[in-house]
Amino acid sequence: MTKYDVSTSNSLYERAKAVIPGGINGHYGFSVKKNGPKYFSRSEGSRFWDVDNNEFIDYMCAYGPMILGYNHPAVDEAALKQLKAGNTVSLASPVMVELAETLVDMVTAVDWALFSKNGGDGTSLAALVARAATGRQKLVKVAEGYHGVAAWMQDGRAGTIPADSEHVIQIPWNDVEALQKAIDQHPGDIAGFISSPYDHPVFRDNELPADGYWQKIETLCRKNDIVLIVDDVRAGFRINLAGSNVAYGFTPDLICFGKAIANGYPLAALAGSDALKQAAQDVYFTGTQFFNAAPMAAARATLLELQKIDAANVMTSIGNKLNKGLIDVAASHGYDLVASGVPAMPYYRLANVDSKTHRMWIDECVGRGVYLLSYHNHFVSTAHTDADLQRTFEIVDDAFTTLGPASAQIQKAVPS
Ligand SMILES: Cc1ncc(COP(=O)(O)O)c(C=O)c1O
Repeated sequence: MTKYDVSTSNSLYERAKAVIPGGINGHYGFSVKKNGPKYFSRSEGSRFWDVDNNEFIDYMCAYGPMILGYNHPAVDEAALKQLKAGNTVSLASPVMVELAETLVDMVTAVDWALFSKNGGDGTSLAALVARAATGRQKLVKVAEGYHGVAAWMQDGRAGTIPADSEHVIQIPWNDVEALQKAIDQHPGDIAGFISSPYDHPVFRDNELPADGYWQKIETLCRKNDIVLIVDDVRAGFRINLAGSNVAYGFTPDLICFGKAIANGYPLAALAGSDALKQAAQDVYFTGTQFFNAAPMAAARATLLELQKIDAANVMTSIGNKLNKGLIDVAASHGYDLVASGVPAMPYYRLANVDSKTHRMWIDECVGRGVYLLSYHNHFVSTAHTDADLQRTFEIVDDAFTTLGPASAQIQKAVPS
């Protein structure tokens, strides 16, 4: 197989650097590699094409939003129909009501929803609601848990000040005692506990909840009147359509959705229980674009389609096949590939070689048309077919062949 030429991407990137700080910012910027694609030209189903017309089977799914396949006909049709009828108007749209009804019907723990644009809008609103409902200051989060770019979530990055996160307490994942300790240290002052349904940090194997973890957390929250917030922005609709909490047997007070809710159209939601409805009404939460009707129509079509095709189970099955196939291909070259997290969002690591070799392997896959990242969980969609998987395994096999057997990499890594 010949490796892709990305010269058009590279020249566009040079132009971009003159007018956009960093050329490509944020999480898209982290994935920029000299020999990798940087700009897309089109997309369809499970694939995208870059500006050099290279084709990729996409296992990042736009970092999650693409769940039914790019350019999904039913979703696009609903969005276009609404766009033609009206999108951003001086009144709210009926589709906002229909979408809230659909979401509330589908997600068992919730009775209401408020819509916005990005997942981070929802997590910040969740913090406001928790504080408004309890009159308390502190929020507990899991260390390395990502909840968006609001200053209170930024862990001391450039431009933030210590006061931003003064009232945010970090505890390790899967550690009930740490929450108890935080409660003991700040009696009557913890407003909310926010966490993704399982731990999906970057650069580390992803970790599922230990048996009984969420039940114990729920009990502690109830006993101490702490608002339990599930950040389902990333995992939402890929584990269980009724809310990822259902898979783990507990009931949160608030659930944040984003990413996949509208199959790529800009929309996010905070949904919650009746007990918090008044607090959600009391806080001030709005945005110029929050009422765009076309993304709401897209979201409603997405949710209906997800239910129609039992999407979470479909993606779990595809993810299981992908994991097994990749592990087998890796093993045939002597590599020990570890897949962690849930099957629909697998995190991969080559365990018997160093991280440099792991990154080289990912680059070889990307350079042949399988879009993976070396440091982040992946995503599957309902559009990934068995034919995509077969083609993926062939490309990945070729990538390992180019890399050489694991034994050679291990020898290279050992200092003589
Ligand atoms: C778990 C989680 N929460 C919140 C966010 C923030 O969402 P957004 O980037 O749409 O603001 C993300 C984004 O990656 C996320 O993965």
